[in-house]
Amino acid sequence: MSVDTVTYATPPLTSPLTLIHEASQAPGWWRSAVIYQVYPRSFRDLNGDGIGDLAGITAELPHLADLDVDAVWLSPFFKSPQRDAGYDVSDYCDVDPIFGTLLDFDILMAEANRLNVRVIVDLVPNHCSDQHVAFQAALAAPAESPERDMFIFRDGTGQDGNEPPNNWQSHFGGPARTRITGPGGQPGQWYLHLFDSSQPDFNWDNPAVHAEFERVLRFWLDRGVSGFQVDVAHALVKAPGLPGWGGRADGGSSDGFPGHEAPMFGQPAVHDIYRAWRRILAEYGADRILCAEAGVDLPRLAHWVRPDEMHQAFNFPFLHAGLDVYRLRGVITDSLTVLNGVGAPSTWVLSNHDVVRHASRFGYNGHGPRDGDGIGPADPQPDTDLGRRRAAAASMFMLGLPGAAYLYQGEELGLPDGTDIPGHLRQDPTFARTGGERLGRDGCRVPLPWRAAERHLGFGAGADPWLPLPASFGELARDAQAAAPSSHLNLYRSMLALRRGLDLGSGSLAWAEDWCSGSSLAYVNGTTLVIMNLNHEPLDLPAGRVLLRSAGPETGHRLASGETAWLCLDGGGAE
Ligand code: BGC
Repeated sequence: MSVDTVTYATPPLTSPLTLIHEASQAPGWWRSAVIYQVYPRSFRDLNGDGIGDLAGITAELPHLADLDVDAVWLSPFFKSPQRDAGYDVSDYCDVDPIFGTLLDFDILMAEANRLNVRVIVDLVPNHCSDQHVAFQAALAAPAESPERDMFIFRDGTGQDGNEPPNNWQSHFGGPARTRITGPGGQPGQWYLHLFDSSQPDFNWDNPAVHAEFERVLRFWLDRGVSGFQVDVAHALVKAPGLPGWGGRADGGSSDGFPGHEAPMFGQPAVHDIYRAWRRILAEYGADRILCAEAGVDLPRLAHWVRPDEMHQAFNFPFLHAGLDVYRLRGVITDSLTVLNGVGAPSTWVLSNHDVVRHASRFGYNGHGPRDGDGIGPADPQPDTDLGRRRAAAASMFMLGLPGAAYLYQGEELGLPDGTDIPGHLRQDPTFARTGGERLGRDGCRVPLPWRAAERHLGFGAGADPWLPLPASFGELARDAQAAAPSSHLNLYRSMLALRRGLDLGSGSLAWAEDWCSGSSLAYVNGTTLVIMNLNHEPLDLPAGRVLLRSAGPETGHRLASGETAWLCLDGGGAE
């Protein structure tokens, strides 16, 4: 991707600067926001059943307001058999009893409004639970009926229809087709499920599906939410005829993103859905947003955030770039360039509920775990100190970037993955569907430690947490870190306060070439220089006053290995 190279006379920095992105005051809180992902079942268990709940989120919300986040995104808390931790929804307009009630949600909203924290909820429109009333009706209805047409049922192939209609594979392992049996036990049609067999895909060629989801959007907008994270937003529409797929059977391509020709992803008609949704959101005001969880490559990501579509899309290429300075530079340059082309901000993210936490991913010098596969007791273990130090550096590098940043609960504590979860406690369907060959994502979903001295480290005072908290979480508990000035938590507080104070989210980006090498990367955002050193040796810092550094107390004008610093270039700025 080509960019203009310009040299600024920004004293005292003499490096040539390559301008990628200019500062923008375009309206929209979401353009520069910090959005904190809450994974409800692991956040805080107030009713003592071992699973986090909405009342727990409400109780601890002041801590998130104190961290100065703009919004929380709540992963699914809707009625669900919990076969895929709530991403298998059986009623989109109700709260699952394990999380509470609609009244608890309204109380949470009221508290969020009081604290000036916006709430975004997760929308799962590609599939529902097999316990959803519409799927149960489809099972009870004959082939070719309107009820069946809400989903993607087809006759089988081969003798007696014994073979699935095509070769598509589930993301969680195994075939993406399951055959149903009729009331008399006779074999019937096959339905499509890109994920678990308990998650049938909706048929988005059917207008009745559109109508149902428009109702769901309005239901939550009426309750005051600021928008939606749209789960697997690239998958809703499938290619006509559901043709077989000769690439990776789950639609993935060798670089980890859906093959561009894959019949289950990125079909043009999917964009019409989001245009219609954007019009609905606009009825509620310009501050309601849609964010796409679309696992597509960068040029295509821009299609999801054209001016009449979604507002944001997750930047998975950034997450997958890890600490490879060449990839990072390429992804940041490309993200800002292609998204500038459609007037959309970039988002940045390092961790979520589907990947190994970055404090663990960065704790390896060689190859770490494959995303989505987790780390088990028999695997090489990450070096937790190294991982946490590099995680702080990577977060500080990310939070200086212009655009919106997503944080995953617990990353402000520097939490690593739980790596000693016994097989019988694992709940991610990936584990069962692959016979334990792939561990799945439970490690990054371990409950949060709130108070070191309390039962279950303050996650909940009752039953054992649904996944065990490692003993090492004790010293990482929020109250312990709050009291330690140079803790990970206090670094996050300082970063988020400075980011807001310096307006970095709305700022600019120019690479500072003299500090970009095979092992370091530096950019200027406004009057702030952000520099990360991934070399094994320390690096001399350029002139400028150090505002903040990720490795703790200042150790002279050198940047340690695995450290990031923010420097003020204009002689002013905060201490
Ligand atoms: C969610 C996963 C979930 C899957 C199926 C993903 O994109 O982030 O946690 O398992 O969608 O709904």
